[in-house]
Order: sequence, then C-alpha cells, then structure tokens
Amino acid sequence: MNLMPLPREMRPRDGHTPVARLETKGADTPRLTAAVGRFERRLASIAGGDSAHHRVRLDIVSGPASEHPALGDDERYRMDVSAGRICIEAPAEWGVLRALATLAQLVCRNGQAPCVAHCEIDDAPRFAWRGLMIDTVRHSISIGTLKRTLDVMEFYKLNVLHLHLSDDQGFRFLGDAYPELADPRDRYTADELRDLVRHASARGIRVVPELDVPGHTSSWLAAHPEWGLGEPVSAVSRRFGVHACCLDPGSRDAMRAVATLFGELAQVFPDTHAHFGGDEVTLPAGRDLRTMQAAFNTRMADILHGLGRTPVAWDEVIQPDLPRSVVIQSWRGAGARDRALRGGFDTVHSAPYYLDLMYPADLHYAFDPATDAGADLARDPRVAHVRDGVLALSRTWSLESGDMNGVGGGRVLGGEACLWTELVTDELLDSRLWSRMPAIAERFWSPAEVRDTGDMYRRLEATHETLGSLEVFDPAKGLRERLMRSGLSREDAHGLMPLLEMLEPVKWYARLLGGSKPGATGAERPYDVDTPLDRVIDFIPPESLAVRRVADLHDADRLREIVDGWRNQRDQVVRCSGRAIVDELAGISTTLFVLAEQLDAHLCGRDARVPDAALEPHGEYVLPVALHLAERFSQRVGCT
Ligand code: ACM
Repeated sequence: MNLMPLPREMRPRDGHTPVARLETKGADTPRLTAAVGRFERRLASIAGGDSAHHRVRLDIVSGPASEHPALGDDERYRMDVSAGRICIEAPAEWGVLRALATLAQLVCRNGQAPCVAHCEIDDAPRFAWRGLMIDTVRHSISIGTLKRTLDVMEFYKLNVLHLHLSDDQGFRFLGDAYPELADPRDRYTADELRDLVRHASARGIRVVPELDVPGHTSSWLAAHPEWGLGEPVSAVSRRFGVHACCLDPGSRDAMRAVATLFGELAQVFPDTHAHFGGDEVTLPAGRDLRTMQAAFNTRMADILHGLGRTPVAWDEVIQPDLPRSVVIQSWRGAGARDRALRGGFDTVHSAPYYLDLMYPADLHYAFDPATDAGADLARDPRVAHVRDGVLALSRTWSLESGDMNGVGGGRVLGGEACLWTELVTDELLDSRLWSRMPAIAERFWSPAEVRDTGDMYRRLEATHETLGSLEVFDPAKGLRERLMRSGLSREDAHGLMPLLEMLEPVKWYARLLGGSKPGATGAERPYDVDTPLDRVIDFIPPESLAVRRVADLHDADRLREIVDGWRNQRDQVVRCSGRAIVDELAGISTTLFVLAEQLDAHLCGRDARVPDAALEPHGEYVLPVALHLAERFSQRVGCT
C-alpha cells in the first residue's frame, strides 16, 4: 500500500474489492455529496476509465460540520474495506473528507479492474495546522492554479492554505477602499477570493490571508509614498531581496489604511486567523527598530482582535510585551520556534519546510515541527556547494534566539511549508510543490515515529505516478514539451533525457543570489521579476528520483544501459547545438560522459574515480549522481 501520509493505524486483511461503481449511503449533505463525486472522478482518472461492472457499497456515518473549517476541528475517521463494502465513520464531515483521500490513494489496479485492498484504518492527524504558504506576489499565481492546488492539498490531507497577498513587487487584493494599491493586471477580486474560500471549505481547508506589514511594502509606497519610512519609492519594485523601506507606524493615514484593508479582508476570508507578516523590516539609520516594531506589532494585534481574528506573524515580531494570543510562524530555525514557545506563544513551524530551497524530500522529512529531530545540513554532501551560505545564515539567525523572559506554555500547532515564488511561475508551481510536498504532508499528519526514509521514497515515487495520472505532476512531460516549444523534435528531446534526468538545480538561495554566499544586493542578483523562467533549470524537478534509482541499482546489465545513455546524450547535445536551451548544458553533458567512462571502467573491474569537477556545480546545475558514484567506486560495490 502506498499511502501518503501514512495513517495512524492500519490493519491490512486478505483480499481486494473491485471498485468501479459506488452505491453510496449517508453522503446526505452538499459537502459530502460533492466529496464523493470528486472521489468518483479521481477513481476514473486513476483507474483509467474502466467500465462500471463492479458495484461496491460505500456507507458513510458522520456527524455534522460547520460551514467553514477551523483550527482544531475533529478530522478523525475510521474506515473498513471488506468484500463489496466500504464503511467510513467520522465524528464530523472533515473526517469523511480525510477518509475519502485515503480511499483514493488505496485504489490500485489488480489485473483489469481497479480495486481496493481489504483493510481497517483508524486515523487522526498529529497536528491541527498542516499548512502550505504560497507567495502570490513575486510571480502571480492564477485562481485556477490555486484551486488545483487545493484539490491536491485535499489528497494529502493538508488543511491550511496561507496566501501571501502583498509584498514589494505587488499587491494582489483588490479592495474597495484602496483600489489603487492593487496590481492593475494581476490581482484577485473579492468575489474571486470568496469563490476560492468556498472551494477550500468544501475540501476542509482553511484559507489564511496575509498582508505583509510594515516591511515588504514598496508596492504600497509606490501608490502612497507619504505612508513610508526609509528609501523613497517611486514605482512597484521589480527586484528581489529585502528593501530598505517600510510603512511608517507614526503615519495616521498608513495605520488607517492597514486597519481598513484587514477589515476588508475579514469580509472575504472567514477564517479565525489573519497574518500580518512582520518579517525583515529595515529602517533608516538612527531609527530604533525594536521600539518601533514593538509598538507597531502590538497595534496590529489590537486591530486584528478588533476584527475578531487571531493574529499570526513571522517570528521577528516576538517581543516580551506582545499579546500571547499572536501565533508565531517560525521561519528562522528551531531557535526561533523555541524562543516563541518559551515566551508562551503558540507556533507554526516553517523553517525546515522552505520548498524554494530546492532541497531533496528527505531533508525536509527529517525535521520534526515539534522536536529537535532534523537533518545535519552542515554535513550533508548534497548541500556542500552552499554550505558557507547555509551556515552563515543560521549563525545570524541563532544570535536572535536568546531568552524570552517568558512563562513557557506555547504549543506547536503544526507546520507550514512555504513556496516563495521568485523562481516559480504559474506553469512551474506544480513541479516545485508536489515534487516534495507529499513527504512534508506526511510529517505534519502521521505519528512522529513514521521516519523511514527509504519507505518514504518508495511511496513518494508511487504518489508521483498517481499525480502524473491526475495530470498534476509529470516533470519529464513538462521538460519534453518545453524542449519541443524551442524547436527540438520529440526524438531530440527523448535523446537528451538521460542527461536531463540526472540534473538538479543548485540548492538553497544560490540561484537567486548568483552564488553560495549570503548578502548579494539587488543589483548583483541575476534574477528579477522580469527574468524569463524558461530554461531547462526551471523545468527539471528540484530532486531527481532517477538519481536515487541509479544509486540503488546493482544489476550490471542495467548499469551498462545507463552507461550507454550517458555516452549517447553527449552526441545528442552536440547535434542540438546552436540552441541556447541546449548549449548551456554542454559542460555538464561532457562531465556526465566522463562519469559514463568511469562507471564503465568500474563495471569492467578497473579503477575508477569521480573527478572533483563533477562534484561541483556547473553554473546553476548539479550532478548529484556523482556523489553516489564516488561512494560506489570507493566501496567497489559488487554487481550481479
Ligand atoms: C520570510 O521568509 N521572509 C518569512
């Protein structure tokens, strides 16, 4: 069984029940009727449209649920699959949604008919807050993509979509009071957002809106320079990185606008929580940031309480006199989380779940939202090329994690993965997200003891296949289509695959910063809002599971086929030369050719070595298979 997240308890039994046509009892509310309909459509995509010979009874017994989900809702369920019958019992409708997600993942093909293995499942989430933040600003993300994301979030039992709606590069919310703030082209109307919230609520997913204040507000100041402090702003920024300006908390007009805008958001988003950002504020020299920010944050907490909302903010807002009702989203390491907890704040932990860092799934999976379990980034060879940057940032951040004079008593509400979109467009979002998010969803839902990385990868590959059949995540197809758009034939694109499937993007912020050291300023950064994201680097998945398959392979004949593919790809790159999309791969293609020669030598029992250059980035690309080969050659692993 390839469930992801794994349930709390599962007892497999002998036998399979074919499923094609459901006779459903008990799905008598609009939400449950719609959910069963979604399940049936999923079944049809996963099962491949088989004719409906096999009937199965689906009995649902559930308590009611409110119109919109809320933090701490009961999401438990029990499910029993036996011959010709599936029973779901849940204290509230939310549990039925989670059970149907499990059921959709249980469907497999056994010979011809789609079927479900007999089993009993008793399941409940570990954490109440299992979130995903999407930055809708650095690149605009369409409502259609957000809805599709909600559909897939339901499949992995995620229950909070946090929408980052404003930043230096844009303001996406079109309200009534300050329409001049909203981007004229890429913005969401209140009705579009209400529709999105309905879509989410039907799937048991909360939507938490964020307007990021007082920093990250160049887009506000482009329309209202008089609200600002710091660097003068004349236009919405096109560059990335922290900007040296912020809203002036001493400006009555600015504070009135903030209060009005959050009031308008409260009319659109019913969720009990609203996020006011608070991260990375910079002030002109001579201004006292701590005092200013403390007063501002307390005022923001008052505004949101006045609207009946629980405030949420990034961890920079932690300060002794901040009301303990503010939920802290810790993004600068476990130190920030622990500081919040010591101070008595409830916390959502995000630091280890930044999907834009391009880390492999197991690095995220190793980190626990509530304990010190985690990966050793300082020693992991896959991030050695960015070690200086990783360590420098974590040193800077840990300086902040001093004592909080607090009373303790804060709780970890859960975790939230973050997808910042400097290098993500609408088209690229699925690949950047679902390549690794299923593993993180498991960390947020399943018991803490579920930690077997090998088993996680086995199920991650299987779930990627399912996402392929749902037309959500199919990186090879995306790459092929991109290459063919640039004029390559299908055969050319196919011939490049042995190279492309071995490539990964450099890790951490190395692409954004143009290297592996922190501190590159806007002008030195290679990317801004207008840089096209249409190269191979943008279409390869952050982690290559093909590399893992090579690493696990010990069959000499299969390895020789791989050697042939790695040799032939170089000829293919030469044949396609003259096209920029391929030319930038010439160097790394040659390196893979050299690795093919070395692997061949190894298979023939001769000495083999991985050249140092193969372990280094080639521009923005890395060849992680070089690490596996270095280990293989040093161990002289035998072949069969
Ligand atoms: C953040 O990543 N600046 C919250």
